[in-house]
Amino acid sequence: MTGLKQVNQQLWLDAVPLCDIAQQYSTPCYAYSQSIIEKNFGNYQNALNNQPHLICFAVKANSNIAILQTLARLGAGFDIVSVGELERVLIAGGKAEKVVFSGVGKTADEMRRALEVGIHCFNVESEAELCLLDQTAGDMGLIAPVSMRVNPDVDAGTHPYIATGLKESKFGITIDCAEDTYARAAAMSHVRVLGIDCHIGSQITEVAPFIEALGHLTALVDRLALKGIELEHIDIGGGLGVRYRDECPPSIEDYLQPILEQFKSRSETLILEPGRSITADAGVLITRVQYLKNNGEKHFAMIDAAMNDILRPALYEAWMDIKPVEANTTATAIEYDIVGPVCESTDVLGRNRSLAIGAGDLLCICDAGAYGFSMSSNYNSRPRPAEVMVDGREVHLIRARESLADLTRGEHLLPERKAP
Ligand code: LLP
Repeated sequence: MTGLKQVNQQLWLDAVPLCDIAQQYSTPCYAYSQSIIEKNFGNYQNALNNQPHLICFAVKANSNIAILQTLARLGAGFDIVSVGELERVLIAGGKAEKVVFSGVGKTADEMRRALEVGIHCFNVESEAELCLLDQTAGDMGLIAPVSMRVNPDVDAGTHPYIATGLKESKFGITIDCAEDTYARAAAMSHVRVLGIDCHIGSQITEVAPFIEALGHLTALVDRLALKGIELEHIDIGGGLGVRYRDECPPSIEDYLQPILEQFKSRSETLILEPGRSITADAGVLITRVQYLKNNGEKHFAMIDAAMNDILRPALYEAWMDIKPVEANTTATAIEYDIVGPVCESTDVLGRNRSLAIGAGDLLCICDAGAYGFSMSSNYNSRPRPAEVMVDGREVHLIRARESLADLTRGEHLLPERKAP
């Protein structure tokens, strides 16, 4: 990952040794490099320089308010999927008018709040949602700005759990039906048709599926124009992959270049919803080896992080690099399964990793800045880790480690049972 450096047999993030972070904030602990996040976002901005655009960071990738604040300061918009994410964006100083609201199950309450603060648009995923939005906006005496999320039936060539653009997926409106939906929307009194969007999946490492999807979208936009429905923006979603192991995704520039080519002859604003490609390589999860164990068949390294802290390996069998934070010069390299303390067989963070380590050593799980903390849970009643932001030589605590008291916050014991 780009932010990690090897200095005197130690791993550093920017100008800070990871072992200092572990010492100060304990483990497991997420650490992010602010400069990497800024650089990744800057790469999008620079490439889009001459194209009217809006980059809406997908909040689900990393929703810590300091991360959102970092991006809001750079002028980012945000792609949200719940009112919870909306409130985070507002707390972080994000502008409502730069927010797009995706998701298949928006409730009337969520619509009301988004209408109240004046978001850029709702990415509508079904006719039923469109009707509820028209009604909700009508009740408030407002007009809801709308983009239809169409499903272009494109194979993104990614893990089936994170592919979203195929016909059988729950996302979006089938592209063949979309013209009818637009016609219906155009006739509604409390929605204003503004754009079109799609999101074909995540961790995509080829440009071709994006171009194919865009081709379907622009063809539809042109057909709609002939019917008098003129759209102002085309939102091609997120999905650009990163290198976890040996993947070779295009750079942000190489991904955008053919897309921009398509926009040369068009007047619409280009909206993007990148998540992973902005924060993944900016983050690590620092963890400590608790015990080593050999059951005759295998060597295990039991660490103090688990699938509740970082779910990707258990959920998608995702491969994430695991490195020693400091070289252990006395240990010899052995193949370990790196496992957490959660009572599930899938609580394996890495299989067959050759590492020279001893109990008490620190490890770091790389490229954990996207879909890391944001997918964490309290399973097995484990407090969630601390999060820190590294800015050059400075380290800021951006989320305190949860306490044991946090675990039962909001829970209630039952009253004494009355005698029968
Ligand atoms: N827009 C929409 C509507 C989305 O559903 C997503 C991600 C994005 C944008 C951002 O996609 P990105 O640029 O991050 O690929 N938890 C999985 C990834 C799930 C992605 C869900 N949607 C993982 O850890 O690999």
